[in-house]
This record gives sequence, structure tokens and C-alpha cells, in this order.
Amino acid sequence: MSARHDSPWWRDAVIYQVYPRSFADGNGDGVGDLAGLRERLPYLRDLGVDAIWLSPWYVSPMADAGYDVADYRDIDPLFGTLVEAEELIAQAHAHRLRVIVDIVPNHCSDAHPRFRAALAAGPGSPERELFWFRPGRGEHGELPPNDWGSHFGGPAWTRAADGEWFLHMFAPEQPDWNWDHPAVREDFQVTLRFWLDRGVDGFRIDVADHLVKDPALPDAAGLGPDVIRPWRDQEGVHEIYREWRKIADSYPQRGVFVGELWDEDPVRFTRYLRPDELHTGFNFPFLSCPWDAAAFRDVVDRTLATHALVGAPATWVLSNHDVVRHATRYGRAHTAHSFDDAKHVEPSDLALGTRRARAAALLSLALPGSAYLYQGEELGLPEVEDIPDALLQDPRWLRSGFTDRGRDGCRVPLPWSGDAAPYGFSPPGATAPPWLPQPASWARLSAAAQTGDRRSTLELYRRALHLRRTEPDLGDGTLTWLPSDGDVLHFRRGDGFACLVNLGDRAVPLPPYEYVLLTSDPLEDLKVAPHSAVWLRVA
Ligand code: GLC
Repeated sequence: MSARHDSPWWRDAVIYQVYPRSFADGNGDGVGDLAGLRERLPYLRDLGVDAIWLSPWYVSPMADAGYDVADYRDIDPLFGTLVEAEELIAQAHAHRLRVIVDIVPNHCSDAHPRFRAALAAGPGSPERELFWFRPGRGEHGELPPNDWGSHFGGPAWTRAADGEWFLHMFAPEQPDWNWDHPAVREDFQVTLRFWLDRGVDGFRIDVADHLVKDPALPDAAGLGPDVIRPWRDQEGVHEIYREWRKIADSYPQRGVFVGELWDEDPVRFTRYLRPDELHTGFNFPFLSCPWDAAAFRDVVDRTLATHALVGAPATWVLSNHDVVRHATRYGRAHTAHSFDDAKHVEPSDLALGTRRARAAALLSLALPGSAYLYQGEELGLPEVEDIPDALLQDPRWLRSGFTDRGRDGCRVPLPWSGDAAPYGFSPPGATAPPWLPQPASWARLSAAAQTGDRRSTLELYRRALHLRRTEPDLGDGTLTWLPSDGDVLHFRRGDGFACLVNLGDRAVPLPPYEYVLLTSDPLEDLKVAPHSAVWLRVA
């Protein structure tokens, strides 16, 4: 329970996403791991977050950076061991950090023993029923069973050597489970218990709306624009989460769920957050919002109104491991997120983008509910857009026929200290360079370089997160808009707190206040500077 609101911790938690392969490398092989993360837990404690969410750490051939899971109940040797994971959970708890792990239920890896068994057992076998195997169309079955496309490009079907096709909504190395099969349901319940038994505090659910498919597997081409796509958001998915919720609630820590739900309309989105289903879902409309006051205000209003329908708290999220870092996005001519961003690199004014990113941090941490931070945003890291083609690893690069540069640019290993790569990411004497190259310009962005510099983005986040804990009006609760002109967002929280964000090019006068708690950039003659935000104590 939070001391302030006497409500469950997840209703106003700040959760920091750790992307393990890029956080900190303990063994010097150039890839982040659990040893590196364990050493850096005090950094996260001192930053002032409440919990960490770890992107997948499971056994995986890494065809999609670990989102292709071959064993859901063990740790990939690249990252460490199960014993180390258990120690990490205990250590995090000792620092008062909760731990959320990723669960990937839509698909596994083609190296998963059950998929291998299905391939070996052949057409018509019970082993194949755990996946979506189908004969092809065309005279010799040479055409895919339907017209669905993979989210990574190309068809969503791949043909096995014996002629049957199997479904994969992502890479061919990620076959989709058939959730209509009871064995799949049971196996994931065992996995949930496995991690809850080890003390995890919750799960982030990968592509949470995709699990159940329309069993008729209809072509998408003939469906009207208002018809829900047959590979997602099917009614049956809710029953799965109701079962999961019962399991999580039966544990003393009452595990929590956060769903990755990209395409839902806001009302359908909140159906996942009904009181007996998931606790929260990522707010992607907020992440996708352009740098525009009216657009932000609209997203905030819609978010709060729809979440109120089910009594769930909103989440506020600006970046993650799948999207262009927002310091870069906000410096472009087009500031809204699009998955096509990596297809055509647009120039970015990084000074402007960083200003806006700092203001956006104060906005998202002042809104009612819980907030997600993606590792490195507290350092103001930009997207890395000049990774040499030969080093790109995201399957989207290959699957798009080398037209979509993918998501590697937001996954570059963090700079911790020092003047040159690997910037303390790997220990001295490391045997390999970081798995993606770090830019020369990152020396000034390292955690060590920013520590103690009051103007730095890291110190801004530290102060904001500290205030979020001490200001009784922040976190869960309600928001009241205050009058403001067009480019300004101005709202009050509770009795004594107000936030003003100036999204325009001209400084705006400070509204009435008692004192200034924090600014994302210095005031200009008692005015809020362009593209900056201010937190105020008000009467
Ligand atoms: C989610 C993950 C992404 C992954 C995909 C397939 O969208 O966030 O990184 O590639 O699912 O698992």
C-alpha cells in the first residue's frame, strides 16, 4: 500500500523498463546481463523508481532479442542463471524495488521443444494442434492458407518441409501458440506460478490482445474497415486473463499485470482492465501523441474518462524498446510516433527534442496514475540513427527487405561513465565491444557525467521522482484543468499542486503560485520558457 493514498502500489507506481541486453554488462562479453543489473540496482533505487520491468531474460535463440522464448522457466546463459535471477529478485526487494517480468504468450521460439516436436510429428498429429498448422492453398498447397501479413513484413505463414504451413504473426522463428488448446493454457498457468513462486510482483504481457484467433482464419482483405482483425482482440482472450488474475490474486504479493495493447480503441482497451482482468495497460495513444497542446489534452481526457469506466488507473508512457526515443522524435517535423518512423530517417533538432522530452517527463509524472520510464530516457538519450547496416540486428531489417531499419536505434547499450565507449557499460578488460556501437557524443550523457549537474536530465528525473514521492497530491487521483491559452497545458492535482506545460515557441507568464517546485528549464523573467514545464505549489 502506498502511504499517501492507502491504495495498492501499482495504482501510482513509477516503473522503469530494463532492457537487459543493453543495461549493464557484468561479464565483459558486450551484452548486458543479470550480474551487471545487480550491480546497478542502487542506481535505480536512488533514481527513485518503485519497480523494474525486465524485457525477456528467458532461454532464447534471440531471433527477436529474446521475444522468441524456447524455455519460459529458465534464464538464457547470455544473461546468467536461474539462481542469479532469484538473487536479483531478492536484492531488488531489499532495495524496495518491485520486479515485473515479461511474459510472451502469443508465440514461442521455433526452438521451443513443443514446436520442435510438432514439426517432427508431422501433419495431423496431436503435437501440431498446439500451433496453427494448416495446408496451403493452390493446386499443390504452394500458397499460404490466408492473406495475413506478419507485423515484421512478409506473409504470416511459413511452409514446413512436409508442405504444411504454420502461422507466425511476427518472425518465422516465432510460431503462434493455439490458445484454443487446453495444454497451452495449462502450460502458461504453470509458468505464471513458477515466477510468482519466485517472488515476482507482476507480468508485462507481450502483444496481449493477439492470443486468441478467429478459428476460421478468414482472409483480411474482404473484411470491412470496422471489423476487428481476426488475429487480435477476440472475445475469448478475456477469459484467459480472468483465469490469470485468479492465480495472481492467490499469491501473497498479489501479482499485477500490464498489457501491451497497441491498436485498441479506447473503450475496447479498457475492457482488458475490468476489475477481474488486467490491472493496467500501456497508454500508447499518449506515447504516440504529437507535440501539440490540444492533442495532449484530448489524449489525457480520453484516457481518464475511459479508465474511469472500469476504475483502473491510467499509465503514462513516452518510450520503450520498440519505438524511436522521444528526445529524437520530439525534435522532428513530425512529432507523433509511427511504426514507419524507421523506414525514412527524418532529421531531428536534438536540442529542441531534448527540451521537449524534459517537459514531457514532468507532464507524465504529474498526471494521475502510474508512469513507465524506458531505460536511458532519464539520461536524455537520443535515438542512434547511424548504426552501420551490417551491425543491425532487428529482424524487421531483414524481413522488410532492408527498407525498415527497425528498433536497434533505441536499444544501444547505456553509457554509465568515462570518455569513450563502452562508457562503463562493460567492465574494464572486456573481451568484446558492446553489441551495438555507442556514439562518440555519449560521453557527456553518461550517468557519471550528469550526476551532480543540476541542469542535467538525470538530475531533473531524480528531483521529479523524489518530489513525486513527497508531494501528497501526485500519483493516483483526479486532475482539474485550469484556464490557459492555446499552446499551454495547465492543471491542478489535489489541494496544493499544479503543473503547467508550455508547448509553444513563446514564454508564458507564471500563473499564481506559492512557490516553484521544479522546472524542466530555467524560468525566463518569471515566465515559463518555450517547450518547458513547471511544477508549482499552489494555495
Ligand atoms: C512486442 C515486443 C516486441 C516484439 C514483439 C513480438 O511488441 O514489445 O519487442 O518484437 O512483441 O514478440
